[in-house]
Amino acid sequence: MSEFEKKILEFKEKIKVVKNLPELNKINSEIFGKNGIINLEFKKLGSLSPDERKNFAASINSSKKELTEFFSKKSTEILDKEIIEKVNKEKIDITLPEKDFKIGKVHPVSQVIDEISCIFSEIGFSVEEGPDVENEYNNFTALNTPENHPAKDMHDTFYLDQDMKTLLRTHTSPVQVRTMLKGSPPFKIIAPGRTYRSDSDQTHTPMFHQLEGLHIDKDINMGHLKGCLNYFIKEFFEVEKIKMRFRPSHFPFTEPSAEVDIGYRIENNKIIIGEGDKWLEILGCGMVHPNVLKNCKLDPNKFQGFAFGIGIDRLAMLKYGINDLRSFFECDYRWLNHYGFDPLDVPTNYRGLSR
Ligand code: PHE
Repeated sequence: MSEFEKKILEFKEKIKVVKNLPELNKINSEIFGKNGIINLEFKKLGSLSPDERKNFAASINSSKKELTEFFSKKSTEILDKEIIEKVNKEKIDITLPEKDFKIGKVHPVSQVIDEISCIFSEIGFSVEEGPDVENEYNNFTALNTPENHPAKDMHDTFYLDQDMKTLLRTHTSPVQVRTMLKGSPPFKIIAPGRTYRSDSDQTHTPMFHQLEGLHIDKDINMGHLKGCLNYFIKEFFEVEKIKMRFRPSHFPFTEPSAEVDIGYRIENNKIIIGEGDKWLEILGCGMVHPNVLKNCKLDPNKFQGFAFGIGIDRLAMLKYGINDLRSFFECDYRWLNHYGFDPLDVPTNYRGLSR
């Protein structure tokens, strides 16, 4: 066995026990580097006869090839091992709590919708929903709104098509129509949801929330409406007594129609609901117009009832002392953290609505 062959065998043994890449790279240059054994062996070629040269070169090349393969096998082996070790070391325990964990908060609007739903469910109302994108018929026509009514103006309503047939609902009242058309009386429902009007200032945002109420049966009258709203306001503001007044008003879909104000006063910059001599408008209501009943395939000689529409955002502002309506929709985490509610504090009638 030549010196060269002996060295090759030695290197092979060395490579077998190598544990890491730097060590392997060092051996690599001892073999393949400028002064490595392969190059040194090639240098011997010069002193050989042309015949000998051929065989000699072939044997160096085959050793070179053999070592190269040996090498690449070892290096893959080391790399694989390193990856497996890394993966095992970096194992993430997803059951551990996040280091700076921020618990999410429930938005005051969602909280108020939950509270209102609780209050009305207690007296037998169920919750209905309708789409934000409505057709002109449900939003206006079925609700007895005349063709030239100002609410239909492009300046107030967001239309979604040229011929003004599809729009973003301007109130939750179309849910009255949907509910009556799909079922049979009696109806006793509330419908919370988003509504849209082309309006924006401190107390108006282009998107806002309303809650519709509808109670239709054979003998429902204005007295029921008053009793129902009186109960609701007291429960909502969590007060024993409430000052409330009905002001005559006009809506095309109710007759008679009224707007409801609640009495309040300001004390130390805080609003006290239910007493005092200031009035605040919070909702519109009335007895459902016979034309609406007809449009919803009900006989107005057999059925009658009331409807109301409450501004949810305004109630939330009042109850929780929030001044600017626009802050509701700015998605500011600091604001939400301050005004938001603990997701585990679900409002209930028996344990209390709010903190
Ligand atoms: N839809 C009316 C509004 O948006 C409110 C309302 C609802 C009035 C139901 C009467 C009856 O202003």
